[in-house]
Amino acid sequence: MPDTKTADRPAVARLDRQAHPALVCMNEALRVRHRFAADIVDRSVALFGTRWADEFESVVGALFPTADAVAGAVRGYAAFAMQSMRLQAAFEVEGQYRPKTYDEAASEVYFNEQHMMQEYLPGLLLSHFLWPHHYRQLQFFDSAFVDAMRVAGASSFVEVGIGTGLYSGFLLRRLPDVRGTGFDISPFSKQFTEAHLDALGVGDRYEVELRDVTVEPIDPRADWLVCVEVLEHLEDPVAFLRGLRATMAPGGKAFITAALNAAHADHIHLYRAPDDVLAQLVEAGFTLEQSFVGAAYRPSAPGVPVPLAAAFVVC
Ligand SMILES: C[S@@+](CC[C@H](N)C(=O)[O-])C[C@H]1O[C@@H](n2cnc3c(N)ncnc32)[C@H](O)[C@@H]1O
Repeated sequence: MPDTKTADRPAVARLDRQAHPALVCMNEALRVRHRFAADIVDRSVALFGTRWADEFESVVGALFPTADAVAGAVRGYAAFAMQSMRLQAAFEVEGQYRPKTYDEAASEVYFNEQHMMQEYLPGLLLSHFLWPHHYRQLQFFDSAFVDAMRVAGASSFVEVGIGTGLYSGFLLRRLPDVRGTGFDISPFSKQFTEAHLDALGVGDRYEVELRDVTVEPIDPRADWLVCVEVLEHLEDPVAFLRGLRATMAPGGKAFITAALNAAHADHIHLYRAPDDVLAQLVEAGFTLEQSFVGAAYRPSAPGVPVPLAAAFVVC
């Protein structure tokens, strides 16, 4: 007799060893060496289903094609996540990010080859899938921005602060006729993004330039602009946003995000609420079309700040 309690429930999605070999390697590496995140892959596939697993497999399998390369990326993720947990615990007590100048963050992080290539960039890349609020933000990007580009017949886009190249790569794969240009100040973000997009087979439609667009504006201006998780890294986000606004073509649209209440080694500007980001966007001349807010987890007690991802489609 069927179990009436479970018969009508949809089956929980699981990894498939044939379809997701890189994720199976990742799962094993986490279970054996990084117990604090032992079940994060299983929990994510149960939460987001096989589409999540297929998408993540295509990125990890292309960029980290051997079991050793996957294990290296997982080590980077573990170091990245542990550092952010330590800083978050201090933030919960102190109520502020540890003071740091932009130049200090740049030399400690963006211009530190070992840290960028071994920990920060692989860690950030994996977090885009392993942290639920990050993955939900990527889903919002797909439905609110990539679909709008498709419908409008977009031919090009610009990303500022490319980091891992995940958002540019996602767009290039979804829209095969589109070309992109990425700007960043870090030579290691450039190197990582180029390797990532080449591995995905979309690098021939993408150029990366080392440039601070607020100092040297983009020309021709952008119809479609993406800037993910850069604002909280700056001392004066409004000045940066004014620079982004000035780089947009008339009628252009931008996808701009910020991390809130999320301590990290290079997070300088503390946003406590999504409205803090929106107020800056409006001050810089943007008009809101759509927004998204996702929380990393439930607060451990009332009033304890929780990392949020806030994303805005603006024109
Ligand atoms: C958290 S990462 C961005 C994440 C990235 N968008 C992703 O999805 O992986 C921050 C990036 O911003 C870059 N950055 C910092 N200041 C910048 C500036 N003034 N102009 C352009 N990029 C900048 C850093 O080098 C780093 O690559």
